[in-house]
Amino acid sequence: MSVHSMPVGSDAEVAGRVDALIAGMTTAEKAGQLTQYFYFDLPPAGEAADQASGGAEAPGPGFDGHGITVDEALGRGQVGSLLFVTDPAQINRLQRRAIEGSRHGIPVLFGFDVIHGLRTIFPVPIAMAASWDPGAIEQGQAVAAREARAVGIHWAFAPMVDIARDPRWGRIVEGAGEDPYLAAAVAAAQVRGFQGAGPGAPGRVISGPKHFAGYGAALGGRDYDEVNLSDSELWNVYLPPFKAAVDAGAENIMTAYMDLNGVPATGNHWLLTEVLRDTWGFGGFLVSDAQAVHNLRTHGFAADLADAGARALRAGVDMEMAVGNPAYAHLPEAIEAGLADEETLDACVRRVLTAKVRIGLLDQPYVDEDQARAVLADPAHRAAARQAAQRSAVLLRNEGGLLPLASPSSIAVIGPLADSRRDTLGPWVFDFDLDETVTVLDGIRNRAGHGAEVGYAPGIRPAQRVFPSMFDMFANNAPADPEGFDDDAELARAVALARASDVAVVVLGEWQNMIGEAASRSSLELPGGQLALLQAVVATGTPVVLLVMNGRPLDLRWAAANVPAILDIWYPGTQGGAAMADLIFGDAAPGGKLPFTWPRTVGQVPLVYSHTISHEPVNQGRRYWDEESTPLFPFGYGLSYGRFEYRDLTLDRDRIQAGQTVTASVTVTNAGDRAGDEVAQVYIHQRHGTASRPVRELKGFERVALAAGETRTLSFALGPAELRYWNAAARDWVIDATTIDVFAGGDSAAGLTASFTVTG
Ligand code: BGC
Repeated sequence: MSVHSMPVGSDAEVAGRVDALIAGMTTAEKAGQLTQYFYFDLPPAGEAADQASGGAEAPGPGFDGHGITVDEALGRGQVGSLLFVTDPAQINRLQRRAIEGSRHGIPVLFGFDVIHGLRTIFPVPIAMAASWDPGAIEQGQAVAAREARAVGIHWAFAPMVDIARDPRWGRIVEGAGEDPYLAAAVAAAQVRGFQGAGPGAPGRVISGPKHFAGYGAALGGRDYDEVNLSDSELWNVYLPPFKAAVDAGAENIMTAYMDLNGVPATGNHWLLTEVLRDTWGFGGFLVSDAQAVHNLRTHGFAADLADAGARALRAGVDMEMAVGNPAYAHLPEAIEAGLADEETLDACVRRVLTAKVRIGLLDQPYVDEDQARAVLADPAHRAAARQAAQRSAVLLRNEGGLLPLASPSSIAVIGPLADSRRDTLGPWVFDFDLDETVTVLDGIRNRAGHGAEVGYAPGIRPAQRVFPSMFDMFANNAPADPEGFDDDAELARAVALARASDVAVVVLGEWQNMIGEAASRSSLELPGGQLALLQAVVATGTPVVLLVMNGRPLDLRWAAANVPAILDIWYPGTQGGAAMADLIFGDAAPGGKLPFTWPRTVGQVPLVYSHTISHEPVNQGRRYWDEESTPLFPFGYGLSYGRFEYRDLTLDRDRIQAGQTVTASVTVTNAGDRAGDEVAQVYIHQRHGTASRPVRELKGFERVALAAGETRTLSFALGPAELRYWNAAARDWVIDATTIDVFAGGDSAAGLTASFTVTG
């Protein structure tokens, strides 16, 4: 029997163990159980700063908490959880200290940002969403959970399920894009992947969807800025992925940093208790985002730290994630002053301890270091990552069927990102292995073997951020500026290489430290001299395949008009280059679809497909603009090596009563001469009712693999869950008496249509 599969007992037994512990705890010990500290195990500050370009200060291990170090707090039994430790030996050392320091022998939970893999890095979350493949998404997070649990991590601060409709916001890369229906499916799949049959099961961890709620709507796409959401947007767009995650059994939720409609999310009783617990029945524990309780004072909300702690506790925050000087260390004095009560404190402690018991932590607090090494090295994890990267790539353009490549004898690989291991992995990874990371250049070289000559030229030096990233305290985060790089000579060398080759594969995008948390941009242009490099390569006349490495839509107007083949590869992870070679050479077919609307320029944002209208849409709304107003690529768009045709959209009934279900069926044929993957999509539009509804809303999808000439008929249920919406006037969910138009096809501009009537 695996060490993690210990039976933890019935609910009553769990409750009994928890209550017995609480009965013997002091108020200070309880407050300690509700405190989570960062524990950075970095090289000494000087060394880290040398490695990082920005010279960010690295906090050393055990930095100051509440006048004491984390190590001291552990020794006093006043730490509930630690984050950012990934080394199993270190985890065991800290755990021993916690258990020996606690009068009750209570172990700490180890949490970590396991966002898209621990050692085996999968494509970034927006890429996984682009697979439109809940099975692959679940499998990816199951691998991540297995690796995390093996090293002693019990809890992943993931998935991020924030809807993002403004690509200036760097954290768009961590989510599933703009659409609540797709994002809800992706959220549930990730929770299932992390938790399996339950976090106590072997190789599984607690999943903590975040950031509750609305964080993605930061004003102007500026990270951490205030969020003002209408009732309708909140319920219809921003909350559904959280609801789906809760329904999938997520045992934790993380709060958000910002003000939501004027009240800090982390001190928001309505949000955290009335919606999450009372309305949705969430029974797990809530953690604050880092320092967000402490920062209730910074918001101008709490008077001081005791007030901040009391307000968060009363709002429903069970555990404070503290960068230093936790507000929850002041809970004893807050209770003394009557700002909070002991019963509320006990309820929070009960939820945290219940999580510890349920995951088996009290029975098996230590981790087997040998087993950890074996799990991290599992080749099956690399195979899953490679397949995930294949499935997440989106083919945006393929004029003349340039892809897959038809046995070129020479290939020019161009652009600094083509050979950057760190950037291939993407943001929000820390425990990766650079040596085993396969870049696009590596992948093409390996696949081409002796069959084609592969040359490489970066052409330009890596672009640098204007201001250093807060992640630069981790080694290798910022790209090194190559010494002795002769810009003119390197550009000329790249152009000459392209001219002398049968095909040029150009890899362009954003360096990974330009996207993610605290990485907002006011421009979507390719940074550095990348556009000029692309233009110079295209001017040689050699056919160009552009691979885009990104987590947000970039300004690709020139490329979309001038480059025959464009494949969005995102940040594809450990096996990224191998997977891209599979696609480029036709060993696998791309089939991903965009999880966001791709604007032409930053001035169009936010631009979403599911908007409402107030005027007849003459010429797609262009009449009201003096410039092109459509997206560059619509939501849901993506090509494959097959060519898909849709016909016979039929409904099993043309009239239902509210509460009943219509089944829509549509037939898809691969009319091309190669096999390929297609994501069939179904959208609805409500013609009239008690509120205006979007012109289209996604309500069903299925990814299918079709051989050349193959036909499949797919069915989609449109029932109460799909037809209801939150009506801001009624302040309730409604299903209107109306006519519903149904659209089916391969993207949000789908042309096939049918309709049915809903009676009251
Ligand atoms: C982020 C969270 C993350 C936490 C811990 C915060 O700054 O907003 O998403 O889980 O740090 O690393």
